[in-house]
Amino acid sequence: MNENKASSPTSQSPQTDHPLNQHDAIQQETLVRNGKRPIVSVQGLNKAYGSRIILKSVSCDFYRGQIVVIVGRSGSGKSTLLRTIAGLTELDDGTITIDNELVCDGDESTDQWDEQRRKIGMIFQSYTLWPHLSVYKNLALAPRKVLKLSESDIRAQAQRSLEAVGMEQYIDSMPSTLSGGQRQRVAIARALMMNPQVLLCDEITSALDPPVAADVLAVLTKLKERQNMAIILVTHDMSFAARAADKVLFFSAGEITTYGSFNDARNHRENKELQTFINAITVS
Ligand SMILES: Nc1ncnc2c1ncn2[C@@H]1O[C@H](COP(=O)(O)OP(=O)(O)OP(=O)(O)O)[C@@H](O)[C@H]1O
Ligand SMILES: [Mg+2]
Repeated sequence: MNENKASSPTSQSPQTDHPLNQHDAIQQETLVRNGKRPIVSVQGLNKAYGSRIILKSVSCDFYRGQIVVIVGRSGSGKSTLLRTIAGLTELDDGTITIDNELVCDGDESTDQWDEQRRKIGMIFQSYTLWPHLSVYKNLALAPRKVLKLSESDIRAQAQRSLEAVGMEQYIDSMPSTLSGGQRQRVAIARALMMNPQVLLCDEITSALDPPVAADVLAVLTKLKERQNMAIILVTHDMSFAARAADKVLFFSAGEITTYGSFNDARNHRENKELQTFINAITVS
C-alpha cells in the first residue's frame, strides 16, 4: 500500500492491527473514553470466487458520526465489502467486529452475530419495497417479526422513521404512487425501524436524477448528525464525497489504495485511478 498519509485505513487506530487486542480491557476503556471505539472494524478480509480474488487484506475501522464514501471502478469489490459487513456474503479470512464484539472470524460467525447484526442496516440501489404493501406495512414487517413490538409502538416508530427522512405524510401510501427519490427515502426509513447504528448504502441514488439524488443524500447527512450514525456509502457521486464525506475510501481490484479526507484523496496524486474519479466532478 502506498505510504501517502491518506492511504492507511487504520492509521487512526493502531490497536486494531491485531483484532483480538480489541478484547484487551484497558485498551477498550481508553478507546471508549476517547470516543474512538469503532462501531465496525474489519481486519484482513479476504474473499475469492474460485481463482478470482475479490477482497485482498481489506482492513478499515468505521466510526459513528462519520460518513465514509467508498469509490472505485465497477467490479473492484465495493458491494462485496458492504455485503460481508452485512453478513450477506461469507468471508474466506479476516475478522469483523461490531461494537467491540467479534461477530465473524473467517467463514465462522460467532454467537454475538445475531445480536450485533441488528445494529447494521443496509439499503440497495433497486427499490426493495414490497409493491403490494403500503409504506407503513413495509416498515412494520421487520420490527413486528424481530423486535416483537406492539402495533402502537410500531406505528409510533414508523412515524418517527418517516419524519427522519421527510416522508411522514406518506405513511399510508402505496409504493407505486411514490417517485424514485421518495421510495429510496422510505427504504432508508425502513432501515431505521430497527434502530441501526450503521447504515450501509450501496449506490442508493444511482438511478435518480442529480437533484433528487442530492435530496436523498442530504437525508443521510442529517442522520449522521442527528442520530450519530455511521454511514458507509458506495457512490459515484464525487461532489457528495467532496461536500459531505468524512472519509473517502478508494478501492482498486479488491484493495484499499487510498483512505482519508476528501482533500487527502484529492492530494493523493499518485493514485491515478482515483484522480479520474475526482476529476469527474468538474464535468458532471
Ligand atoms: N456471487 C458471486 N459469484 C461470483 N462472482 C461474484 C459474485 N459476486 C460478485 N462477484 C464478482 O466479484 C467482483 C466484485 O463485485 P462487486 O459487486 O463487489 O463489485 P463493485 O465494486 O460493487 O462493482 P459495481 O460498481 O459494478 O457495483 C466482480 O467481478 C463480480 O463479478
Ligand atoms: Mg456494486
